[in-house]
Amino acid sequence: MTDAQIRLDPGFTVAPVSRRTFGSFVEHMGRGVYTGIYEPGHPTADADGFRQDVLDLARELGVTVVRYPGGNFVSGYRWEDGVGPRPGRPVRRDLAWHSLETNEVGVDEFMSWARKAGVEVMYALNLGTRGVQEALDVHEYLNHPDRTHLAEQRRANGADEPYGIRMFCLGNELDGPWQTGHKTAHEYGRLAGETARALRSADPDLELVACGSSGSSMPTFGTWESEVLELTYDTVDYISAHAYYWPTNGDIGSFLASAVDMDHFVNSVVATADSVGARLKTAKRLMISFDEWNVWYQDAHEAKQATEWEVAPRVIEDTYNVADAVVVGNLLISLLRHSDRVTAACQAQLVNVIAPIRTEPDGPAWRQTIFHPFALTSRLAKGDVLRVEISAPTYLTDRFGEVPLLDAVATHDPQTGDLTVFAVNRHLTEGLDLTVPVAGFGHPMSVAEAWTLTDEDLYAVNTVDHPDRIVPHPTAGVTVDGGVLSATLPPVSWSAIRLVRAG
Ligand code: AHR
Repeated sequence: MTDAQIRLDPGFTVAPVSRRTFGSFVEHMGRGVYTGIYEPGHPTADADGFRQDVLDLARELGVTVVRYPGGNFVSGYRWEDGVGPRPGRPVRRDLAWHSLETNEVGVDEFMSWARKAGVEVMYALNLGTRGVQEALDVHEYLNHPDRTHLAEQRRANGADEPYGIRMFCLGNELDGPWQTGHKTAHEYGRLAGETARALRSADPDLELVACGSSGSSMPTFGTWESEVLELTYDTVDYISAHAYYWPTNGDIGSFLASAVDMDHFVNSVVATADSVGARLKTAKRLMISFDEWNVWYQDAHEAKQATEWEVAPRVIEDTYNVADAVVVGNLLISLLRHSDRVTAACQAQLVNVIAPIRTEPDGPAWRQTIFHPFALTSRLAKGDVLRVEISAPTYLTDRFGEVPLLDAVATHDPQTGDLTVFAVNRHLTEGLDLTVPVAGFGHPMSVAEAWTLTDEDLYAVNTVDHPDRIVPHPTAGVTVDGGVLSATLPPVSWSAIRLVRAG
């Protein structure tokens, strides 16, 4: 057993917790939509064809905002195909995922699902094959209140009131050569800037997201952000970031430290954006929309090429183990730590496609291991994010050098007095004895709840037959004594400990 300590103070805050940190993503990809959120004929389907078992799990997950309709899919998507009477909707090729899109679900259906799920929608525009006009058209259809042609069309399709979507992504991953309509930073920056200006003429209050890099390992990372922001800084509010992690060559030690990479990624984008702001002599600060992040076993899928044009094929349905859940919990710690600049984030994706929720057609829906840290963090992270000072031994990783065995963040709600500590032990074999002095909060505290996700088998998973093989359990040895919180964090574990005012 090794000792580790966290120091924190209610006066040292990073920023309020942004509820948009707990976003997710539904793309028309694989079985994300069809047999994911939507399956008419399923035993739990409601009158609109939405699976209520999935809706229940999405609510339990605590998702706040959902990015839609893609992803790579959006760069070839025609939104008009998915509105109006269903029999008239065309079946199209989806070049991004080499599959067929029936358009049975379009934006009106998705907005109805989002209302049922109680989530905000972050709408991604197609700036791959389309441009300013399409962006204005879909915005008019979705949001325009008066009697214009497209607002009337929306009404005729059943939605009297404008949807009032606030966040729009100006395309998706246009730095990537795989993207339909891939562009140079200059080409994209010009188009994104023009689109943003046009959208703002329609509604100055929109929150617009410029595409950042599709990963920090992209050869253009940094210069892409810089060039794009030179052309868009005044007209956008966010720059996006995307990151996926997996244990390359089975290097579990580095994998468990994936949050080190996410921290570095965020710091680099902030530095780049701020340097553009400084060059432009503006006080405006951009935020980061980390609108794709997760564990994704990209090695396992690279070799597979779709040969048939199928509707809703099984695509990248990763099954997540305990180590993956610990990494996901740690990535949420990293996102919270950066709440002063990362104010929106979407785990990619919600159902079936690299997702916390899995379904079988005509069968059950279940929680993957990664569901649990997300749901607990969304439920327990309240109030302000606190700055934490971590004292812990380190271990050597191939990718990041020496890395602390402990990572942690804390939130404090000044209204209720609740203090929640989120912590990860990255040690493969040894527990950590964690202590956190809490006397500085000015009143006695006691433990309200404490949950740990771990297992002796790092590779244990939840399956359709054993959906609850991995669930969080009460944390061992949690006490508050003499103004000090103590807990034992097992090897490779993620924990959340909530303290309340005692008495
Ligand atoms: O989330 C899966 C895919 O990953 C998205 O479609 C794309 O934007 C990213 O490369």
